[in-house]
Amino acid sequence: MLDTLTPQNDIIRLKEERNAIILAHNYQIGEVQDIADVVGDSLELSRAAAEIDGEVIIFCGVDFMAETAAILSPEKIVVLPAADACCPMAQMITPAELRFAKSLHKDAAVVCYVNTTAEVKAESDICCTSSNAVKVVQSLDQDEVIFVPDRNLARYAARFTKKEILPWEGFCIVHDQITADQVRTARERHPQAEVLVHPECRPEVIDCADHVASTSGIIRHVCIAQEKEFIIGTEVGILHRISHECPGKRCYPLSEAAVCRNMKKTDLLTVRDALDRLQPRVTVPPGIARRARRAIDRMLVV
Ligand code: 13P
Ligand code: SF4
Repeated sequence: MLDTLTPQNDIIRLKEERNAIILAHNYQIGEVQDIADVVGDSLELSRAAAEIDGEVIIFCGVDFMAETAAILSPEKIVVLPAADACCPMAQMITPAELRFAKSLHKDAAVVCYVNTTAEVKAESDICCTSSNAVKVVQSLDQDEVIFVPDRNLARYAARFTKKEILPWEGFCIVHDQITADQVRTARERHPQAEVLVHPECRPEVIDCADHVASTSGIIRHVCIAQEKEFIIGTEVGILHRISHECPGKRCYPLSEAAVCRNMKKTDLLTVRDALDRLQPRVTVPPGIARRARRAIDRMLVV
């Protein structure tokens, strides 16, 4: 019988019985991060999905992340505990729209942010995440690059290359709301603090920051920096992991409103039920998976 008051016990037992691993993104709620085998950014979780043994992956994140795990581990059962946990940015481009853009720029390489559907990855030359976007763009032979779907990450990567970057006009509904005024106000309140932001933020926010990095890059920076105070410009779920890994540091959210509702749809009960029923499963049709995997594998060796 399942226990509603302490789902942690069921989770530990079911994890063993199902030979499952639990992967959780840095934006998940604290309780979910605490029961996960691996907590990380998109790149770390993609690598973990490909490398870790087990028959089942319980992916505590959003749909494109679980799809990427299913593409990299076709022999494993991949379960997304909250079936409707999606990334709105990934819905901002369709495969047909990308094919049209490619027909207009026949010599351009296509870089797709990992926050895309498997179908869009299948139309792309190479994938990237927020932690390797600059390296991925620099690795290309082509001088022209269609970069989809995040315009802010595209413009951030463009700062480090002479290539012509053609950004798609997609954006993250959480990071795109953060303003340069909020950075100025936070600096006035915490004059000793360093400002760390995610590259999904707008260019004018990036211009006012001291350091730009992926979610795990931000956590590493807080842990190793000499400074004691930080203003964190990304989704607030990251503060849980920072408080565990860097207990001596003081961190303030740049915006309390930076909450990704889709990342918060997973809780201990949905994880427990996902382990119990091995549902809702995430699968990718083999033809799409094979083409999408080329783009992901190419990224993993950059
Ligand atoms: P990271 O790869 O930096 O964890 O970012 C994922 C994401 O969705 C940020 O909004
Ligand atoms: Fe998508 Fe933004 Fe949520 Fe990340 S924070 S999953 S980009 S909506």
